[in-house]
Amino acid sequence: MKVFEGKRIVLGITGSIAAYKIVDLASKLTQSGAMVDVVLTESAAKLVSPLTFSSVTGCKAYVDQDLWQVEDHVLHIKLGEENQAFLIAPATANTIAKLANGLADNLLTVSALASRTELLVAPAMDGGMYSHPATQENLQTLEKRGVKLLGPAAGHLASGMSGKGRMLESDQLLGHLRVFLGKDGVLKGRKVVVTAGGTQEPIDPVRVLSNKSSGKQGFALAQAALDQGAKVILISSPVCLTSPVGASMVDVTTAEQMADAVLKETENADLLIMAAAVADYKPVAEMNRKVKKDQGGLTVINLETTQDILGELAQRKKSGGVGPRFTIGFAAETENLLENASLKMKKKELDLIVANDVSRKDSGIGSDKNQVTLIWKDGRKKEQPLMEKSAVSDVIIQEAAKLMEPA
Ligand code: CTP
Repeated sequence: MKVFEGKRIVLGITGSIAAYKIVDLASKLTQSGAMVDVVLTESAAKLVSPLTFSSVTGCKAYVDQDLWQVEDHVLHIKLGEENQAFLIAPATANTIAKLANGLADNLLTVSALASRTELLVAPAMDGGMYSHPATQENLQTLEKRGVKLLGPAAGHLASGMSGKGRMLESDQLLGHLRVFLGKDGVLKGRKVVVTAGGTQEPIDPVRVLSNKSSGKQGFALAQAALDQGAKVILISSPVCLTSPVGASMVDVTTAEQMADAVLKETENADLLIMAAAVADYKPVAEMNRKVKKDQGGLTVINLETTQDILGELAQRKKSGGVGPRFTIGFAAETENLLENASLKMKKKELDLIVANDVSRKDSGIGSDKNQVTLIWKDGRKKEQPLMEKSAVSDVIIQEAAKLMEPA
């Protein structure tokens, strides 16, 4: 998660039991290269020890007494001015009320008042406290002032009841921090459409024709584009992956649905990245009843070709129709990798094609890693080493940003 490297992040923690979840967040941020300054209110320190946080961040976790230490006599100004992100999670109704009123009666609220970056606030409280008009008004005041509210979610609450007031999970908060830190990246203001996963073509009500695509490369590309400030539309077939925070998801199943979604979403897009493994064939007709095994061998399923989505976009471009300004495709090959990929690029009129040898056992379909060669339409080629799909995505997104630079 390159977006966190070298970033100074203040994590303000207040007195809700959800505080324990922030230990995981502090640890992940630290492992990703961020410098994490944890500030606990007096109540938060009763629930989770400052030592727990300093153990995972490797830095001192601050409490109210630190405001009065001689060596850091303007600690709150340092915390307020030197951060690239300031997240208060969990934020109790009490701290939210203080922030809304500009109160600064502890190290956290005084540092928040001194912060140069917009605050990110993740409320956590019981449902009744959250829906109370006082809390709602305070939240509205904060939002009007540019504070970004993250959640809360509805679900199980510490009281044992259910309702809205549950803090977002630490991975969701991590995603929001990524979006916040990436907002001024090289794709700021760009609309990027990414496709992911393998489409499913129905045979009967329970069976489909599909492929082994896991969607990992497409999801990683969407995340990499978000990390660079893009507005991301992720069109995906059903996969077992968590949607990247900040991406607008479009769920599809069949190649036809994917084609409809791509054609619609790319009308005003800056970039399309077609990472999906779109089925090339589909059953001519879906059987309306489940095929029973005791009816004997099933020897024939009549198939027909699906629409080539990139091919259709190329046709539209030729005839002056609307479409993405730039298009990146993938070439999944088991032989003659570079030759076949180059031919595909020409045929589908792409700006860049990512060639991957899907016969390799250590990369590609289903794996967390990929080894690709990038090929540009002017014939340039760049072979990449075997890397995590997230790192491959960072490279593709950097190259995509260069394509979009004015000449
Ligand atoms: N693609 C597409 N529409 C299809 C099939 C593929 O837009 N119906 C896109 C893929 O998302 C990928 C590129 O075309 O970006 C190449 O896909 P690939 O499966 O490698 O090649 P195909 O065009 O399907 O040709 P073949 O399977 O014969 O190699």
